Amino acid sequence: MKIILMIGPQGSGKGTQSELLAFKLGLPHITVGTLFRTEIAKGSELGTKMKDYMDRGEIVPSDITDRVITERLSRKDAANGMILDGYPRTLEQADKLDNIMSTLGRTITDVVYLNITHAEAHHRLAGRRVCQNVACEQNYHLEMNPPTKKAGFCDKCGSVIAQRSDDTPDAIERRLHIYEVDTVPLIELYKGQGYLREMDAMKPIGDVQQHILTAIGA
Ligand code: AP5
Repeated sequence: MKIILMIGPQGSGKGTQSELLAFKLGLPHITVGTLFRTEIAKGSELGTKMKDYMDRGEIVPSDITDRVITERLSRKDAANGMILDGYPRTLEQADKLDNIMSTLGRTITDVVYLNITHAEAHHRLAGRRVCQNVACEQNYHLEMNPPTKKAGFCDKCGSVIAQRSDDTPDAIERRLHIYEVDTVPLIELYKGQGYLREMDAMKPIGDVQQHILTAIGA
């Protein structure tokens, strides 16, 4: 059973690579950001609270995040493995994940670390466009990965694509700073535990995917 965590700075391609991996391995792609955006789309009070944090580029507090992730990981479709994208992001969340995994009788198999430069992260996020259908959320980039069927519309589902509300220069900078402070310590943690698979994620999307598949033995 494969339980694969994806870590790396914002814009490193966690969502893009997770989606490809999920398809290839037949596993669910679980991303906390999407779980939050689904709640926001419902217009609930909880969703409004999440949106405030996300638009500022801040981490959503653990009382909310823990509840959402515990519920999602307990669902039936995650029983045979998963690709977990964007969780954990802090040492506290790594502890929480260990507890959830041990309750469910599972263990992490691989931690894929996508390494890119700060400048590349800015460039990718500034040009990113995302399908506005929250059930699709296909990623595009204005220059490097534009839609091929009709400009401004998703190739997969035909919905409009647009910039994410947290892809503003200020929010990008704040997210990258929080990544440096809170998430980078996880790299050493998982290296020490023998799970880390470091990738040069500056390479084209297909090359990175190929390297990941080799590194995780798939
Ligand atoms: P989330 O939605 O997870 O966003 P993120 O972490 O900011 O990561 P990104 O989606 O920005 O980057 P990515 O690495 O997935 O890159 P992508 O594949 O899109 O989280 C959003 C918010 O939710 C957080 O800020 C926080 O508020 C909250 N949240 C989430 N998880 C949380 C947690 N655990 N705890 C608390 N709060 C949490 O690619 C980016 C662009 O680059 C795309 O345009 C893509 O086409 C392009 N691209 C990708 N790979 C390549 C390549 N190799 N070459 C060229 N272009 C590429």
